Amino acid sequence: MIKDQDLAGFQHISVARLSPSVGAEITDVDLARPLSDGELQEIRTALGLFGVIFLRGQEISPADQLRFAKAFGEININRFFQPVEGFPEIANVQRQPDERGATGWYWHTDHSYDQVPAMGSVFAAREIPPVGGDTLFAGMAAAYEALSGGLKAVLEGLEAWHADTVCPEVANPNVGAAFADRLPGLDTAGVRAKHPVVIRHPISARKVLYVNSGFTEGIDGWAPAESKALLDFLYAHATQPQFTYRHRWQQGDVAFWDNRATWHCALDDCFGYRRVLHRITIEGEPLKAACT
Ligand code: SIN
Repeated sequence: MIKDQDLAGFQHISVARLSPSVGAEITDVDLARPLSDGELQEIRTALGLFGVIFLRGQEISPADQLRFAKAFGEININRFFQPVEGFPEIANVQRQPDERGATGWYWHTDHSYDQVPAMGSVFAAREIPPVGGDTLFAGMAAAYEALSGGLKAVLEGLEAWHADTVCPEVANPNVGAAFADRLPGLDTAGVRAKHPVVIRHPISARKVLYVNSGFTEGIDGWAPAESKALLDFLYAHATQPQFTYRHRWQQGDVAFWDNRATWHCALDDCFGYRRVLHRITIEGEPLKAACT
């Protein structure tokens, strides 16, 4: 759990927790201008501590969003989504009123199938339905910390395989067909990687559970039924309400989530409305096992 003293060290930004386990709101920051080193450093610290941070009322252009994201690393050009016109680095996460299904409607963390998974994404709300279209986040440090010592010891010795072919849009061609316009790059899927089941978070140094229902194939060296039983337990455990935060989007919201520390899930409940958010994904660094 995040403690009150974790909030005391911020000098350049104001930080307020949104739930005990995950999420914080940052105020006193205007992303339409270049940020100072102090602001950027503290935003990075807040990201590590809270897993996802939100800045509201931001009036920013795609170029402003890109400048902010670039301050945290190289940009990952997304293979699956349509880009925003003129900005190949920005994925257009959009849904038309008559389109069925939300992209990413299942709990997942982006890019876990890559050898070096992306560190996180900067997500800007451009057009938000009057109701529905919220995003859920779950905190993987809090979820891990709540496990028993016995299970933690087992998990820390394990590795898991992740693949982009596991997600429903790729695994089920009928599902994929429904998303063909929004995810034109689905046929590029076929990437796998193995990662520790519990990692040491690169920013916060906390131990973090690193499997997810969207992309994890199975535990290395375990039979499929054994692996499924363990993963199903972890998925049910980590998505208990006390480890989650539900974000109701408003126009002008900007979220920055850390893929190593959180899962997210887009609610599929805004049929009849247009929903548009712009996502920039930032490259990460090699993951280290918690026990190293
Ligand atoms: C995503 O999974 O990256 C998109 C989440 C959302 O649309 O809320």
